[in-house]
Amino acid sequence: MTEAVTSVWGGERVGVRLGPSGTFGSMSDSNPDALFGHAAARLNRFGLAYLHLIEPRIDGSKLRADGLPPVAAHQLRRVFKGPIIAAGGFERDSAEAIVESGDADLVAFGRHFAANPDLVERLRRNLTLSPHDRDTFYGGDERGYTDYPCHDDLAQVA
Ligand SMILES: Cc1cc2nc3c(=O)[nH]c(=O)nc-3n(C[C@H](O)[C@H](O)[C@H](O)COP(=O)(O)O)c2cc1C
Repeated sequence: MTEAVTSVWGGERVGVRLGPSGTFGSMSDSNPDALFGHAAARLNRFGLAYLHLIEPRIDGSKLRADGLPPVAAHQLRRVFKGPIIAAGGFERDSAEAIVESGDADLVAFGRHFAANPDLVERLRRNLTLSPHDRDTFYGGDERGYTDYPCHDDLAQVA
């Protein structure tokens, strides 16, 4: 798959996302370290834009253990030669920490971004984040999709 896509677009325009600890759809592997270490090493030859990793902080919708060490990026950083994006249960402080540690180049936010359309500015200014409402995920209308307000301190320019 990666070979087919990069042959059309070039590796620098393609990113790959892996969830080494994912259990969605009953997925699992008896030796994820070996499997994903091998996969990350094999991806090196494509010169990808990035490898995006879901950290084992998150299990479906639940935080497994806030503050678990960032195993996925920490391990695969030693194998994969391009930029690494980490995702999964990050907060402002833990996001800064993983970048400072050198285990990831970037951090992606999912649910915080859904509930905070001005997330970047909130993180920059260390403002409070709005909580997300899981019941409105995958909802089919604007609720939980485009109706979360911006922070009161961030004036909207009309
Ligand atoms: C409503 C919703 C839809 C998602 N859809 C996808 C998806 O299609 N593909 C994917 O790789 N991850 C998907 N995710 C997972 C997120 O990309 C992210 O990995 C996850 O929410 C953990 O990061 P977070 O703790 O910052 O939310 C989805 C998450 C949510 C909440």
